[in-house]
Amino acid sequence: MSNAFEITGATVRFGSLAAVDSVDLSVAEGEQVAFIGPSGSGKTTLIRALNCTNQVNEGAVSVLSEEITGLGARRLQKLRTRIATIPQHLGLVENLSVLQNVILGKGGARGTLRSVRDLLFPSRSDIEQIHGILDRVGIEEKLFERTSRLSGGQQQRVAIARALFQEPDVILADEPVSAVDPARAHDTVKLLTELSREHGFTLCMSLHHIDLARKFFPRLVGMRSGVIVLDGNPDDLSADELDKLYQLSDEEMMQDA
Ligand SMILES: Nc1ncnc2c1ncn2[C@@H]1O[C@H](COP(=O)(O)OP(=O)(O)O)[C@@H](O)[C@H]1O
Ligand SMILES: [Mg+2]
Repeated sequence: MSNAFEITGATVRFGSLAAVDSVDLSVAEGEQVAFIGPSGSGKTTLIRALNCTNQVNEGAVSVLSEEITGLGARRLQKLRTRIATIPQHLGLVENLSVLQNVILGKGGARGTLRSVRDLLFPSRSDIEQIHGILDRVGIEEKLFERTSRLSGGQQQRVAIARALFQEPDVILADEPVSAVDPARAHDTVKLLTELSREHGFTLCMSLHHIDLARKFFPRLVGMRSGVIVLDGNPDDLSADELDKLYQLSDEEMMQDA
């Protein structure tokens, strides 16, 4: 099986800080990986390297078997249509309807003109497909609702639906559940991992809730100061290793405060 991601010696710098520091990581197609680690450890930067938003300063990044260094703008744009990203703050347009937000999932593939037309005059086939997706994520009755009127948990589902409508090979989710209560967070992580198995897309998610990462992901990648410090099945990782990451997390939070 080929790899969704293959990165070697990848470093992303902001000034003198290496936010991602000589990272080697392979993620197989269809795999589900949770990135865990304290705030500031480089999870978001890594995700932005994987979705080709951040160029690495050193090292090599291969995405869906394409080496991205030196890839022309058009090829890169095409590659990015195969990767859906759910950003931490979801990136929804609150004044648009749920339907319109989900249609934007195909914006990258369809181009600007067609996207505008799709937003104004959604096609019957888009509406039908999106209705089916909303049904699967449990908010089918919200199709024409203005997105700002939805609860936080429902908005997460809109972001997931938008990602699904893109029909990507990979979904990257950056702390998609940081802003909701524990029950919602549990349901959303469960839903995304189920969808990954149903559709076969690769799922990489950064996650604050280590208990959810352990429960739903067969592979945890732990980061600290831009470096991968642990990588494995939750059952094979010692409580000590995970505790250490926890502890560091507390320290970091106190530094942040
Ligand atoms: N655009 C940026 N400019 C400068 N520093 C940044 C930028 N993005 C991230 N950083 C720094 O890089 C480090 C890693 O950040 P980030 O990847 O956001 O970590 P995490 O997602 O694990 O909280 C942090 O020290 C952060 O302050
Ligand atoms: Mg982050």
